[in-house]
Amino acid sequence: MCGIVGYIGKDQAAPIILDGLARLEYRGYDSAGMAVYDGEKVNITKSVGRLKALSELTHDGATMPGTVGIGHTRWATHGAPSNVNAHPHFNEKETIAVVHNGIIENYLALKKKLTQRGYHFVSETDTEVLAHMLDYYYKGDPMEAIIKVLHRVEGSYALGILFADFPGELFAVRKDSPLIVGQNGEGCFIASDVPAILRYTRTVTYIENQEIVRLSKEGFHVYNVDAEELEKPSVTIEWDAEAAEKAGYEHFMLKEMYEQPKTVADTAGPRIRGNDIVIEELGMSEEELLKVKKIHIVACGSAYHAGVTGKYVLEGMARIPVEVDLASEFRYRDPILEEGAMVIVISQSGETADSLAALREAKERGFKVLGIVNVVGSSIAREADNVMYTWAGPEIAVATTKAYSAQLIALYLLAMKFSRVRHTVTEEEFSEMLGDLRRLPDQIELLLNNKNRIQRFANRYIAAKEVFFIGRGIDYAISMEGSLKLKEISYIHSEAYAAGELKHGTISLIEEGTLVAAVATQSSLYQKIISNMVEVKSRGAFVLAVTCEGNREIEKAADYVIYIPITNRFFTNSLAIIPLQLFSYYVAVGKGCDVDKPRNLAKSVTVE
Ligand code: M6R
Repeated sequence: MCGIVGYIGKDQAAPIILDGLARLEYRGYDSAGMAVYDGEKVNITKSVGRLKALSELTHDGATMPGTVGIGHTRWATHGAPSNVNAHPHFNEKETIAVVHNGIIENYLALKKKLTQRGYHFVSETDTEVLAHMLDYYYKGDPMEAIIKVLHRVEGSYALGILFADFPGELFAVRKDSPLIVGQNGEGCFIASDVPAILRYTRTVTYIENQEIVRLSKEGFHVYNVDAEELEKPSVTIEWDAEAAEKAGYEHFMLKEMYEQPKTVADTAGPRIRGNDIVIEELGMSEEELLKVKKIHIVACGSAYHAGVTGKYVLEGMARIPVEVDLASEFRYRDPILEEGAMVIVISQSGETADSLAALREAKERGFKVLGIVNVVGSSIAREADNVMYTWAGPEIAVATTKAYSAQLIALYLLAMKFSRVRHTVTEEEFSEMLGDLRRLPDQIELLLNNKNRIQRFANRYIAAKEVFFIGRGIDYAISMEGSLKLKEISYIHSEAYAAGELKHGTISLIEEGTLVAAVATQSSLYQKIISNMVEVKSRGAFVLAVTCEGNREIEKAADYVIYIPITNRFFTNSLAIIPLQLFSYYVAVGKGCDVDKPRNLAKSVTVE
């Protein structure tokens, strides 16, 4: 989704803004722009396409002198990607410039009113109403104008605003779209996410809903909508800027796949204490855990797929009923939450609009929410009653890999905790599981080292039109994630099916040479999935099997087999996903796709 960067300080603003926007590229965008005050007036430059175009147009910012400015990468919602729709947007006098992340839901009504008052619009965006409304309410006091606008707009927003009358200041405000502020003694920054400013400062303040920030080169002040000043704590970001760099890898996605052994160890390690699992952040005593009658997992995309795995693991291991919902459905389906229900919201970014809304829905109904979140200090992390961080570090590639793997681990840990409290596994089984959990990082490493073989196989499918993924039980959950990985980065049509469903319609899609990836890690289901593989093979499919070491029998039904090391039956998804990620990655690379920034996608989906 859109990215915002703003700077005010001793240095030239434009190069800092361009650098910051480049670090937000992972969020997804289709145009970019900057507004910089040059000592007399505010100048705006915009361009469609990659940020490189804006850098070239401004000679890396040199043609836009000035020490205060705002910049934006736009992911089109209202109006096509075009120069005129790109941000920043001006009022007609070109004295107020605005960048916006989010959606102004009542913009049509506001636009109508402003038009009646004589304002002219040049773009199709919802954002332009903000520039004209600020103009309408501005009578010499920017804060007063901003507050009046906030009272009238509905929707989500993070805004950066420049007033030509106040060239020594920069203004920002947020509601339901992320915004952070940083300072380093030489100047102040605003941004949608930490990596944008990490090169300049590690001291960051998270801005809350409907807080207004007034920044100057000396520092910043935060106010509520009654213009009362607020005390805001700052935090020190512990991770390095290098954590958000490619470190020699061709793509962030490859680097992040290779970080998975560490991620898995970092998520599990601190919560394994001796022969026990300790999840302090749960904030629940053993008595409270025993009172949980049902778990509702709510998430989007890959986080939802992690939730589906979580259902199989929690139900299978701890015998607790689990319902998994797509957040976009949960929030509107009037879900039935009964006494004893626990709600878990899973999100890498912690900013996904639907997941955040689902969290609020559950809280409004009086239910406590546990967030399984990667980005520290994100909205979901702050609004959840308890947060279990996944500690995967910054994930830049739009297609999630390491954060998904960390979510799986968090869910295994929860399941193990519940199973111990509820005595659904024996002490011996529990110890064995702990051993298997500890071995996962090395086993993942082993699978990653097999990348050349998978690359060779992937090269054969660069021209594929469609690919199917099938599995049963927990293997169906991983099939869903394998299929999403492939389609989102390679643009090859792909679907995941519960293998038992094939006969109910899907099998008619199988043609000579269609690739079917069958995930078969559950020994109790081997015979069943082998039958399904035979069914598709006899109709011309080429069958790739992902199965556990030792299951040689599968070679009868498969054309190509990838073996994963033996682990506990509940943990196999953590291993099976590795070859599927590598396969998708190499198909996409082979096709020449923009792996880290697939078309039309955004890393953090902050609008509905
Ligand atoms: O940040 P979140 O985990 O809440 O994001 C949810 C989905 O948008 C995300 O998993 C998406 O499906 C990824 N592109 C998958 O790789």
